[in-house]
Amino acid sequence: MCQQKLLLIPGPSPVVDRILEALARPTVSHISPEMEKELAGAVENMKKIVFTTGGQPFIVAGAGTLAMEIALLNITADSDRVLVVSQGFFGNRMAEICEAFELKFQLLQSQWGKVVTPDELRAELKRHHYDIVVCTHVDTATGACAPVKEYARVLHDMSPETLFVVDGVCATGGIEERMDDWGIDVILTAAQKCLGAPPGLAIDVFSPRAMEKRRKLHRIKAYYADIMRWLPVMENPNKYFSTPCVNEIRAFYEATRIVLEEGLEKRFERHERFASVIRHGLNSLGFITYTDETCLAATLSVIRYPEEVDDQTFRQKLYENGVVVAGGLGPTAGKVFRLGHMGNLTRDQIIFAFDAIEKTLLSIGYAFTLGDGVETVRSLLVR
Ligand SMILES: Cc1ncc(COP(=O)(O)O)c(C=O)c1O
Repeated sequence: MCQQKLLLIPGPSPVVDRILEALARPTVSHISPEMEKELAGAVENMKKIVFTTGGQPFIVAGAGTLAMEIALLNITADSDRVLVVSQGFFGNRMAEICEAFELKFQLLQSQWGKVVTPDELRAELKRHHYDIVVCTHVDTATGACAPVKEYARVLHDMSPETLFVVDGVCATGGIEERMDDWGIDVILTAAQKCLGAPPGLAIDVFSPRAMEKRRKLHRIKAYYADIMRWLPVMENPNKYFSTPCVNEIRAFYEATRIVLEEGLEKRFERHERFASVIRHGLNSLGFITYTDETCLAATLSVIRYPEEVDDQTFRQKLYENGVVVAGGLGPTAGKVFRLGHMGNLTRDQIIFAFDAIEKTLLSIGYAFTLGDGVETVRSLLVR
C-alpha cells in the first residue's frame, strides 16, 4: 500500500477525513432533501466566509478557471473597458480570458515577486476610465499577495461606479476578504485550496451591484457559465438547470462548516502564523524567499533554491520522503519550489514536512546542520 503523500503544493491542499467521509456519502438525487440542505447550506456559509449579507454565491461544477470566466462574462458588456491588475501567471490568465472573449482590456502588471501598488493603480485610473477592475489576491506562481483592501479604497475614491473583481482562488477562506465592507463586486474562488475540499467546484459570489449589471446585459457569451441559468438553483436547490456534482457539494458543505467552526479570524491568524513559521524554518536551512518581503502571502511560499540544489532531484527525493511540493511556473521554473500552507494544515504536518525536507537535503549532500529546520518550526509552533 503506497504511503499517502502530504500534499504541500499550492492546491489541492490536504483533505481531512471528515470531508472525505462526506464525499463518500451516497450519491443522492440532485433535487433531494439532502442536496437542498447541503447546497443551500454551502451557499449560506460562503456568504459568511466572504463577509457579505446581500451577495449571491454560485457553486458550479468546474475549476477556478471556470470561476474566472463566470466572473468576467457575467458583468462585461462589449463596450466595457477592463483593467487587469496582474502580479503574475494567473493575473495574465485573466488577460488571456479577456482576449479569448474579445473583451476590451488593459494589463497593468508588476514585476514577478512584487505587486502593483495602490499608487500605480491610482495613476492608471487617472489616465483612463475602466468599467471593471480585476485583481488576483494571491498569485500562486509568485506567492505575492496584492493589497486588495487598498485597491478597493482607491477605486472607491477615484471611480466608485467601476466594478471590482477579486480572484481569491489562493486566498478565500485563508486570508480576509470583506466583500461588503471593502466594496468588492465579485469574489471568485475554487474548492481545493484554502477551503480544503477536493477539486471540482468553481465558486463566484456576486454583489447586488454585480447582479444588477448582469441583469442589464440581457445576453452574454456563455450558456453553462451564465449565472442567470444557475440563480434559480442557488435560490432553490430543487430547481434544475444542469446536474450539480452531488458528492463534491456534500464534501464542500462539510468543508465550509469546518472553516466556520474554526472561526474566520482564528483561521486567518493561523495561516499567517504557519506561513511565518515555515519561512523561518526554511531560512534556518539556508533557503531564501523569492517573493518580496512587502507582499508575502499567508497561503504559500515561493522559495529560491541555493546554487547547489537541483529542482528535479530535490522534489523527487522529497516525494519519496512523503511530501509533495510544486516547481516554479514560467520564468521561475527550476529556480524555485512552491510550498502551499493553506486549508486545514496542522502543526504535526508541518513538523513532518521539515523532517522530510531535512532527510532529503541529507540524501543530496547539501551542507546544513541536521535538526535546525525541525527545531526551528517545533519551537515556533506552540500547541
Ligand atoms: C490565483 C489563481 N487563480 C486561478 C487559478 C485557476 O484555478 P484552477 O486550477 O482550479 O482552474 C489558480 C490555480 O492555481 C490560482 O492559483
